[in-house]
Amino acid sequence: MKKLSILSAAVLILTISASTTPAEETEWKKGGPKYLYVKPTKKPPHHGVYDEGMKCLDCHKYDGVDAYTSATMTVKKTKKGRAPRAEVEEAIKNTLKGLGDFREIFILSTSFNDKPLATVIEFVMDPKTFTFYAMSEKQTEKLFHIAKNPNVSLGYVKQRENYDYFEGALGVQIVGKAQQIKGTDPEFDAAAAIYIPTLPLPKPSGPIPQPPGVELLTEMIRPSKIITKIIPERIVILDRKFKEKGYHAVQIWEKEKK
Ligand code: HEC
Repeated sequence: MKKLSILSAAVLILTISASTTPAEETEWKKGGPKYLYVKPTKKPPHHGVYDEGMKCLDCHKYDGVDAYTSATMTVKKTKKGRAPRAEVEEAIKNTLKGLGDFREIFILSTSFNDKPLATVIEFVMDPKTFTFYAMSEKQTEKLFHIAKNPNVSLGYVKQRENYDYFEGALGVQIVGKAQQIKGTDPEFDAAAAIYIPTLPLPKPSGPIPQPPGVELLTEMIRPSKIITKIIPERIVILDRKFKEKGYHAVQIWEKEKK
């Protein structure tokens, strides 16, 4: 009998500790630490526009929708200040057009067991679908990250020419899912056909009268490379030019739900 009650006491203790949530987790359920939020006491003159009738606290508090309410995402709450989707897409294409080939250098963020990794890498964007393609040597660190966790983020920034960071600020942040395409996958050729033509190839010279064609190059890379395809879920663009039209400098593009 005594043994049994000790056992049941132990079970009770175990049950209690399993049902109490750690303090940290409760805090995050409420949107994280309070000091991260703007105290809306006085609206600064440079404050972005928003719809008639909105209250300060419509944006400047945790609203229980997401894990958090970030400044960027509050912009979705107002119609005023938001550019039409077509204008946002145009701005994204203009920003990431490269030399007209949509090839640009990005920072790719991946994570493995909650440890992040930022990699400098070229991607080519398909301007029709806003899908991104990169080609990597096998066995590189980022590929292991993606194989474990397909959630990735890409960052692009227009580097400064003068001290025009703020006036001419221009950057893009992408959040999406990555897929790995191997040489034996049926999609490899189609992806290579988007990626390869924009590669800066050496000029034909001497014994090689012509640069190798896309098909020959595809065969050359098939065994040794992995193509990473990123399908964006959300693209955020910061472009000061939007302000000139009365929009927010930050605009959000989201994948259309089917
Ligand atoms: C539609 C959403 C929205 C509403 C409504 C709103 N704000 Fe904001 N507010 C923002 C965003 C977005 C920022 C930018 C955060 C940042 O600085 O990155 C911001 C920034 C601020 C800042 C910090 C600015 C700075 O430069 O440090 C203050 C202060 C502020 N708001 C006060 C107010 C007050 C007061 C009201 C109500 C009268 C209000 N806001 C209403 C979205 C909103």
